[in-house]
Amino acid sequence: MVLVSIASLCSTSYAESPATKIDRKSVVSSFNPRRNESSATTPFQVGNGDFAFGADVTGLQTFQPFNTLSSWGWHNDSLPTTPGQTSPADYTGLSWWTHGRLVPYAQPNPAEADISQWMVANPHRINLGRIGLHFAGEIVTEQDLSDIDQVLDLYTGTLRSSFEYNGTSVTVKVVADPHSDTVAVEIESQLLREQKLGVFFDYPYASGKNKFDAPYVGVWNATDNHTTSMQWDEGKALIQHDLDSTTYFNRIEWDGKALMSGPIGTSHRYVLQPEGCTSFTFTSAYFFEDSGFTESGTFDKLSTESERWWRDYWEDGAFLDLTGTRGPNKTDAIELQRRTILSQYLLAVNGAGHDPAQESGLTNNGWYGKFHAEMFHWHLAHWQRWGKWSLFDRTMPGLYQRFLPSSIERAEQQGYEGARWGKMSDPVGRSAPGEINSLLIWQQPHPFMFAETEYSAFPTESTLAKWEDILVQSADFMASFAFWNESTGVYDLGPPMYPVSENTNPNATINPTFELAYWKFGLDIATKWQKRLGKAVPAKWTRVAMNLAPLPISNETYVVYEGIPDMWNNQTYTDDHPAMLGIYGWLPPPPAFNLTIVQNTRDMVYEKWNLPNSYGWDFPLLAMNAARLGDPDRAIRFLLDQHFQFDDAGYPVGGARVPTPYFPSSSSMLLALAMMAGGWPGSDGPQFPDGWTVKAEGFTEAF
Ligand SMILES: *[C@@H]1O[C@H](CO)[C@@H](O)[C@H](O)[C@H]1NC(C)=O
Ligand SMILES: *[C@@H]1O[C@H](CO)[C@@H](O)[C@H](O)[C@H]1NC(C)=O
Ligand SMILES: *[C@@H]1O[C@H](CO)[C@@H](O)[C@H](O)[C@H]1NC(C)=O
Ligand SMILES: *[C@@H]1O[C@H](CO)[C@@H](O)[C@H](O)[C@H]1NC(C)=O
Ligand SMILES: *[C@@H]1O[C@H](CO)[C@@H](O)[C@H](O)[C@H]1NC(C)=O
Ligand SMILES: *[C@@H]1O[C@H](CO)[C@@H](O)[C@H](O)[C@H]1NC(C)=O
Ligand SMILES: *[C@@H]1O[C@H](CO)[C@@H](O)[C@H](O)[C@H]1NC(C)=O
Ligand SMILES: *[C@@H]1O[C@H](CO)[C@@H](O)[C@H](O)[C@H]1NC(C)=O
Ligand SMILES: *[C@@H]1O[C@H](CO)[C@@H](O)[C@H](O)[C@H]1NC(C)=O
Ligand SMILES: *[C@@H]1O[C@H](CO)[C@@H](O)[C@H](O)[C@H]1NC(C)=O
Repeated sequence: MVLVSIASLCSTSYAESPATKIDRKSVVSSFNPRRNESSATTPFQVGNGDFAFGADVTGLQTFQPFNTLSSWGWHNDSLPTTPGQTSPADYTGLSWWTHGRLVPYAQPNPAEADISQWMVANPHRINLGRIGLHFAGEIVTEQDLSDIDQVLDLYTGTLRSSFEYNGTSVTVKVVADPHSDTVAVEIESQLLREQKLGVFFDYPYASGKNKFDAPYVGVWNATDNHTTSMQWDEGKALIQHDLDSTTYFNRIEWDGKALMSGPIGTSHRYVLQPEGCTSFTFTSAYFFEDSGFTESGTFDKLSTESERWWRDYWEDGAFLDLTGTRGPNKTDAIELQRRTILSQYLLAVNGAGHDPAQESGLTNNGWYGKFHAEMFHWHLAHWQRWGKWSLFDRTMPGLYQRFLPSSIERAEQQGYEGARWGKMSDPVGRSAPGEINSLLIWQQPHPFMFAETEYSAFPTESTLAKWEDILVQSADFMASFAFWNESTGVYDLGPPMYPVSENTNPNATINPTFELAYWKFGLDIATKWQKRLGKAVPAKWTRVAMNLAPLPISNETYVVYEGIPDMWNNQTYTDDHPAMLGIYGWLPPPPAFNLTIVQNTRDMVYEKWNLPNSYGWDFPLLAMNAARLGDPDRAIRFLLDQHFQFDDAGYPVGGARVPTPYFPSSSSMLLALAMMAGGWPGSDGPQFPDGWTVKAEGFTEAF
């Protein structure tokens, strides 16, 4: 690590001695987002990674029905009634020729269109409900409020909102319990005493009609299609919500005297009216089983829990502080720091659960609320690199263990060994039917990256044991999927397959650059792992790893796949994810590669790629490549690219192609920054441009 004195910092980036510990609280708090009106697209959120509550400017969901989403809340539409298509068991998918044999793929079958679509759209994630201020039945809009001030306190996970209504001030504090799916709320206002202010609770129906439900999830005007019922007692109420075969509960507990009533008319709206105090606190817990009236804890207790959890979150693990940067780079450094801090907050709220996050986290629904196995890497690898192991451990490797049986079955049905990981998943591990879903392969080596990173931090027997099964099954599939090509004497990947960029003809796609490099990386780790365990390395793994097709080169560049016609002069191919550059930066350099060819490829991507159409993790991918090629300036420019935006609350803007938020942008940016802060073999300390002042704590070298 380079240690340069303060005096010379205008000409070089430097890392300060770890002796001067970063004042993390002050850095974090200086980026608390503040609003004086609701955003039309994004809420402010409190949450815990498995549960998130999105609020408008009142701190609740008074004017805008932002969402309350969880890892566990899902719903199925009723099954189609089309004869022969009334159950998932009726669905067969399609078979495609694959190296001379017909292999079944989970693709929508036009002869089974209804059940195919049902399986794509079901189950979908549900919005658990809405909580808002109730103004004694008056019709009030945000325009009726004045002196609005709202701050999200990142260091404690507390959302504080205040405003005046009809000349009287109202303040609302909201936190989420770090350990259960509960929000806790404190309201202070003279209006409470006058019974001009209360709280409403409301519940939407769910449907798989929309692939994307943003910014709001759920159907509010189909009140006949679902039912709610309430029991209540002194200080508590239990609302049961039934949507077809999904049933869950909302337990509300309050302090002091209040009256719970509802539903109003034919709606599912209930009202909690405090009587006689100027301060009112309540908690609202959502859960599956009817666990009765056990207590959630008070607002004060959950507030303390939240403070403690968030303090530990910020103080543990790695931290990056760019705020000491002065001079011409200051604006960029502060913006990058803002993105970093807000991303860290939002990822802990939206993407740190039992299951990997959907691309839109727990903010709204994308792809029906499902999550994608090829994205696991982007969603989760940054936790490892930032030393947030307890969050990584929530998901991994448990998720792979859980999906192992269905993945072994998938491989078996297709005539392969081992486990073939699906793509677009629900919590059960079924991959949604889809041509791309069934033919993408770059999710397959992710377990090796996760396992090896974990082993580099915790080189223990227990790490080896934890991942062994998953790695063996992953490698078995990878070895059996590779096809021995008699005429060329190498193992081919595909066809049919889709590469990372999803825009080539799957029946023509063979030996894509990124997948070949990643296959090699995975099989090499598989081999290392067996040796560490003192076990024999299956000969097939070695044979495939040693004889994979070479990375495809054309016109002295690495191309998307072997034989792709004139790719640099065809806009179809200079579009979407530029994954060829992922082999040098995102992945460690492959054992056999040519640096000149990597540089030529980079030059062509910079010249020809449709970068305005790139989105999300493309920019961090390019940043990691630029950094590894010795151009940290360029890396920073990618991370601040005009097509890579984060809004005032830090939500990654979807851009032209997907709704906001698109969280892989946030997590991949943190991964790129971890790499730049921790360096890599052969680099010397943090790799930031000259003139940046970098304080980095707790990062380790990337591979
Ligand atoms: C609201 O906040 C914006 C942005 O921070 C600011 O420009 C504007 O002046 C504020 N409006 C009021 C009424 O305070
Ligand atoms: C939805 O249906 C599928 C297939 O029958 C089932 O596996 C899953 O558990 C159901 N999910 C919900 C939330 O009802
Ligand atoms: C690929 O080949 C299969 C036959 O094996 C065919 O059914 C399918 O339509 C082809 N797909 C494309 C995109 O050409
Ligand atoms: C607004 O406040 C005034 C006096 O403070 C009161 O007379 C009036 O009823 C209030 N209006 C509403 C809608 O609460
Ligand atoms: C419910 O609202 C949606 C969206 O605004 C609208 O398209 C639909 O017609 C409404 N349905 C009913 C039954 O009112
Ligand atoms: C509500 O139920 C009716 C009658 O079954 C159905 O026609 C309608 O599509 C349902 N609404 C939604 C949003 O699913
Ligand atoms: C063997 O490799 C060549 C070159 O990639 C390819 O054209 C041919 O189709 C492959 N053979 C088989 C049987 O897949
Ligand atoms: C190589 O580049 C030339 C000039 O751009 C082009 O005409 C040719 O088709 C390219 N060859 C391949 C295999 O892409
Ligand atoms: C570009 O590639 C696409 C897909 O293979 C093809 O249809 C198209 O004709 C090509 N365009 C040119 C200009 O070669
Ligand atoms: C790398 O590629 C360049 C350009 O094709 C070539 O001149 C050089 O010999 C290659 N280097 C190695 C070590 O293969």
